Amino acid sequence: MDTSVTPTGFPTTFLWGGATAANQIEGAYCEDGKGLSIQDVMPQGVVGPVTAEPTSDNLKLEAIDFYHRFEEDIASFAELGLKLFRFSIAWSRIYPNGDDDAPNEAGLAFYDRVLDELERHGIEPMITISHYETPLNLARNYGGWMNRRLIDFYHRYARTLFERYGHRVRYWLTFNEINSVLHAPFLSGAIETPKAHLTDQELYQAAHHELVASARATQLAHELAPQAQIGCMILAVPTYPLTPAPADVLAARRTEQVHYAFGDVHCRGRYPGYFLRDLTERGIRLQITEDDRAALSHTVDFVSFSYYASLCATADPSQGEDGGGNVFKGKRNPTLPLSEWGWAIDPTGLRLIANDFWDRWQKPLFIVENGLGAHDTLSDVDGEITVNDPYRIAYLREHLVQVREILRDGVDLRGYAVWSPIDLVSASTAQLSKRYGLIYVDRDDTGTGTLQRYRKQSFHWYRHVIATNGASLDTGGAVD
Ligand code: BG6
Repeated sequence: MDTSVTPTGFPTTFLWGGATAANQIEGAYCEDGKGLSIQDVMPQGVVGPVTAEPTSDNLKLEAIDFYHRFEEDIASFAELGLKLFRFSIAWSRIYPNGDDDAPNEAGLAFYDRVLDELERHGIEPMITISHYETPLNLARNYGGWMNRRLIDFYHRYARTLFERYGHRVRYWLTFNEINSVLHAPFLSGAIETPKAHLTDQELYQAAHHELVASARATQLAHELAPQAQIGCMILAVPTYPLTPAPADVLAARRTEQVHYAFGDVHCRGRYPGYFLRDLTERGIRLQITEDDRAALSHTVDFVSFSYYASLCATADPSQGEDGGGNVFKGKRNPTLPLSEWGWAIDPTGLRLIANDFWDRWQKPLFIVENGLGAHDTLSDVDGEITVNDPYRIAYLREHLVQVREILRDGVDLRGYAVWSPIDLVSASTAQLSKRYGLIYVDRDDTGTGTLQRYRKQSFHWYRHVIATNGASLDTGGAVD
């Protein structure tokens, strides 16, 4: 494999990609035997209540109808030039209740067709096994990931996927943003009890179960699909001290360590000392069996992460303004601009965190999510119905310039996937008006629209970046 860096700063093998998640694009929430997932009862994302049943105001039930339009969408991803498409498999399409004895063949057949289509267009798939869409039955009748039994249910599901697709899918991710389980227990851990009523003991035990499940899936992938590579996926949030005061520096470091611990376990095969100390001091006694310890020793082949924003931390919570992203909160960095949803825009943070991850773990890295959620307006530009989105182009360009710096720093970074090649329903707020896509989908927050697709100006821009292997970043990313 030729990994040499070309004059554009990007290796010829660099995987220019795009990323999505099943629940945010597929729709068809109860078609072909699919069971309900936690997303089907979260009409307002993490900011609103969980409903007893799916309700008609839940945009994810239909989402952008990728389930019926994947051929058209994958064709446009090919036109965009994507080399890598990251998507997730809806667990409840394969095991409708999560605890079923046998998989749902219609669900498996759907992903066969998606993979066929990607293969036809020469796009490398990357599959997330679990992306915030645990079968609802596992939440309602088992207590979600607080229950150790989910390790076995996940294992059976992962086995089914490796047996079916392991020969044709090289890249696998076990859990989307696994570190978010401590912060968004229902979204990430299928734990319906509100966070305020959960103890740290319960939350950390749930995280432990996910870590064991992830390691067991890694072991299984290595056995069943030896040519495949399996990675963890971490929500990366570089955290700066709010001031240079050592107490603030320590507060920032400790905040980052809570995230790093998840990567440490995946890459080193055991819990780090600082993490164990923290548990002890907080009176948390994890139930870790001998089998768990043996499972954790199966380490990942690569580390992937999402990156949207950075935050600040302080030892004195009365200082600074509150700031946030979709699941993590902290202090706002007064030096950085904010997105329309209040997330700090910080391209340098991407370089910092990628260098940290590389220095710490020495595993190949993938940036598997990065992008800007913004309001868009359709307009006519020289006869093309499109979205003129210089703000998104600027965001992506600035981050990709940092990606090139990361490569120049000598980091083994294998690819970058924009979130997202196409508009989708937001995870945290369940809105469609928070648009991330390079392709506009005609559907609004009330669910009204034709679902027709329109290429945005950022689509043309990214196509050019990919076609020139990054060279056009230096020309301001001219749109052809
Ligand atoms: C990541 C998730 O945290 O952020 C995605 O993996 C999500 O599922 C993305 O869509 C953007 O966040 P949001 O909440 O704006 O959709």
